Amino acid sequence: MATTSRAITRGLRSKTTTAFLKTASLQRSATVPRQAFQQQARRGYASSAPKAPSPSSLYLFYGAATAVVGGTIFSTLRPNKPPTKAQPTQDSKQPKKPNTDATISASHTPADYRAVYSSIAAKLIDESDYDDGSYAPILLRLGWHCSGTYSAATGTGGSNGATMRFDLESKHGANSGLVHARDFLEPTSGLSQPCARLQEMGGPTVAWRPGRSDRDAEWCTPDGRLPDDAKGQDHLRAIFGRMGFDDREIVALSGAHAVGRCHADRSGFEGPWTFSPITLTNDFYRLLLDEAWHERDWKGPRQFQDDETKTLMMLPTDMALVVDGAFKGHAERYAEDQEVFFEEFAVVLVKLFELGVPFQKGQEERIEFARTE
Ligand code: HEM
Repeated sequence: MATTSRAITRGLRSKTTTAFLKTASLQRSATVPRQAFQQQARRGYASSAPKAPSPSSLYLFYGAATAVVGGTIFSTLRPNKPPTKAQPTQDSKQPKKPNTDATISASHTPADYRAVYSSIAAKLIDESDYDDGSYAPILLRLGWHCSGTYSAATGTGGSNGATMRFDLESKHGANSGLVHARDFLEPTSGLSQPCARLQEMGGPTVAWRPGRSDRDAEWCTPDGRLPDDAKGQDHLRAIFGRMGFDDREIVALSGAHAVGRCHADRSGFEGPWTFSPITLTNDFYRLLLDEAWHERDWKGPRQFQDDETKTLMMLPTDMALVVDGAFKGHAERYAEDQEVFFEEFAVVLVKLFELGVPFQKGQEERIEFARTE
């Protein structure tokens, strides 16, 4: 199945297949990677990392790795206290004292984190009736929105504190719709829930380390720290620069829009960026550069539509990546070589998810969720 998945991905990269996909309905084309995604997952663990990871497995890995981060955010690992439905409160009217017992303690071993990872990965595969066939895109978005509030100057925000538990932050406009991701993660009881089955797949490892702890509502960041989708390159540089990212990293992170879609009832925008919204590829860059785009004529916010199929979309911030010369150079590099994109994306994702985490001495080592048979 890995071969099938890679073949599909290679196919997706070829011009002829892209042309074919354009004539097929998006719904239908989305089913193919979904099947590959599920079948790939069900084949179990590979014994060694493939040299050229299949994007679908890479994608699931990112989704699951993100979910582990999310699992931390929602206090999945509570020493001596199995999580219950009631624990991750969203009631910001009653600010809580820092939840010290939810601190990820040194008593947890990599095996514990692997158990959480595995149970989330299994849930991702099992619950395939959401959106285009997976919760993984919205979990990735949740991880990004938890981390993307970081300010390097003040040290506030970022991937620590679990402050999106509170209405004060979860109700920020940019976080609209993320309730689906939080609900997905909430019942994941991590240590106390046996894995339905092991679903880890071949793919590069995104290293992860513990060190986050819950904080109370006072640590919620003010609204407005995440990017404004209607703006351009200067805004992107200001927002991502505040977090400590440079041009190359901004463009690499934006490639996450290869997966998922916009929802009219959430952000107001509508549609997917690529023909394979649950498979990570470099198609976001390829389509952005190769297709002709026009402003969509509709009642919604200003967004762009591909001339040919009118089924794909780009945000104004996405278009900024090819308007700005410095950004464009990186977009071209990633469009030309998917492996380069994967390599740089994996590194920058680790950086994003570690923003604002006060790692202690002894927490330097990252855990790799190695594949097992
Ligand atoms: C560059 C600035 C960015 C802007 C303005 C932006 C904006 C948006 C918007 C408006 C949506 C649609 C939400 C909806 O209607 O459901 C979205 C979805 C998404 N974003 Fe971004 N985003 C940005 C960067 C990122 C980054 C850095 C990542 C991850 C590393 C990311 C990952 C995603 C994913 C995976 C989705 C799909 C979610 C789903 O399918 O529900 N985005 N983004």
